[in-house]
Amino acid sequence: AETRKYQFNVQMASVTRLCGTKSIVTVNGQYPGPTLFAREGDHMEVTVVNRSPYNVSLHWHGVRQLLSGWADGPAYITQCPIQPGGSYVYRYQIVGQRGTLWWHAHISWLRSTLYGPIVILPPAGVPYPFPKPDEEVPLMFGEWWRNDTEAVIAQALQTGGGPNISDAYTINGLPGPLYNCSAQDTFRLKVKPGKTYMLRLINAALNDELFFSVANHTLTVVDVDALYVKPFAVDTLVIAPGQTSNVLLAAKPAFPGARYYMEARPYTNTQGTFDNTTVAGILEYEDPSSSSATTAAANLPIFAPTLPQINDTNFVANYTARLRSLATAAYPAAVPQSIDRRFFFTVGLGTHPCAVNGTCQGPNGSRFAAAVNNVSFVLPTTALLQAHFAGRSNGVYTTDFPAVPLMPFNYTGPPPNNTNVMNGTRVVALPFGTTVELVLQDTSILGAESHPLHLHGFNFYVVGQGFGNFDPVNDPAKFNLVDPVERNTVGVPAGGWVAIRFRADNPGVWFMHCHLEVHMSWGLKMAWLVQDGSLPNQKLPPPPSDLPQC
Ligand code: C2O
Repeated sequence: AETRKYQFNVQMASVTRLCGTKSIVTVNGQYPGPTLFAREGDHMEVTVVNRSPYNVSLHWHGVRQLLSGWADGPAYITQCPIQPGGSYVYRYQIVGQRGTLWWHAHISWLRSTLYGPIVILPPAGVPYPFPKPDEEVPLMFGEWWRNDTEAVIAQALQTGGGPNISDAYTINGLPGPLYNCSAQDTFRLKVKPGKTYMLRLINAALNDELFFSVANHTLTVVDVDALYVKPFAVDTLVIAPGQTSNVLLAAKPAFPGARYYMEARPYTNTQGTFDNTTVAGILEYEDPSSSSATTAAANLPIFAPTLPQINDTNFVANYTARLRSLATAAYPAAVPQSIDRRFFFTVGLGTHPCAVNGTCQGPNGSRFAAAVNNVSFVLPTTALLQAHFAGRSNGVYTTDFPAVPLMPFNYTGPPPNNTNVMNGTRVVALPFGTTVELVLQDTSILGAESHPLHLHGFNFYVVGQGFGNFDPVNDPAKFNLVDPVERNTVGVPAGGWVAIRFRADNPGVWFMHCHLEVHMSWGLKMAWLVQDGSLPNQKLPPPPSDLPQC
């Protein structure tokens, strides 16, 4: 294993998209940001220097951070932000993961422009459990706003309404030819007939799950969230914000210069105004011989894929049901078989009373909120992990996060009269090594909606999912405890539930939240506090000396 050192200077840069130029926060002036490369087992050392006017913190999404909780990054959870002029070195090891993860800012909405891939190769000499691709290409989906995203979210939180929807989706920062004034900003992938390409897909969009398809080509899914799966082929896949997936694309015999659109478009079954535009990139067959053939091909139409309807929840359910851990001797599925603690969490929207009567844009003049078990999480003003380590929880957090909803009702039936949720900074405390089963139930309080739930510090097994209300008597009998998919972000089905299992073997404070940024801003988040174990290698080490202070 090696130590890989990176220098990340957080700085402003001018970027032009859709014929408008704005100043955005970047790493090293790059948008999207630079790629981190590692092999499984390597140590990472990322020096972040904040030369922007914003408070910043960076998160290494999906990296387990075993015993390195101080490097996890969510602001006010594991660290205070890096203030303008400040710096912090994130030190962690990549353990038991190989595939694609990503890094992003974890404060306010800065991740709209501050993100990049983490490419993790297997250890030297260890092959992929599938034929080696000829080339590997990260493909990051994002969103572009004409306006400044910090202003967008500030306005939304003030009025208690939904934020302005984005103006475009992007592939590697490029909106592509289906938007006005954007043809020059198109992601192009040149391929050769007969070669295989591994696309490292990352959904870095702020608020949208996406369908993705490449015209006339199938995609073979081999990995999700940096964990191998049993390969399966699809025309279209679904990827939620926070999720990553490696897929193989076999270039076929094609005429030189043939072109195919690769397209992504949102999946949502929410009522209301949503951006239903399409980002397109172009898959282009190389023409080694002459440029005249290319010129001829340039006049031919570009083949376009057919994507599912925007609200095709069944497509999403069928797709996710096909995901299975590889579960071989080399890559076993270690699903916890006996469970110490069971939790039932509702995830969904709710409301807060409007501070100034009648000026808020939520239902009946209320303010939109979001909650887990009716608790809308409030970020403290100091980092939870620091308070925990110092044994000073007083006034920072309480350990009484409810194990079941505070307001029980028929989750998928008629909404209750009172949609108010309560504020709190509550966590669940778990002894080291606890095996946890968690059922996440979508509520229909303000309409059924899919929520991509992300857990920091762990991978979990998705042992079951279904529509309607979770049935504690009959549904567990159908759980897959043999080869369920293992991941770090799972979509709670719209109007349904999902059950996950994990072992709390990583001491620290671990955020869990909806990876739709607007829901996270409204409070759809909570934290698990995993206590130290008794052995030396089961204890959270003391904080690094350069840990930013509030
Ligand atoms: Cu990708 Cu808490 O985030």
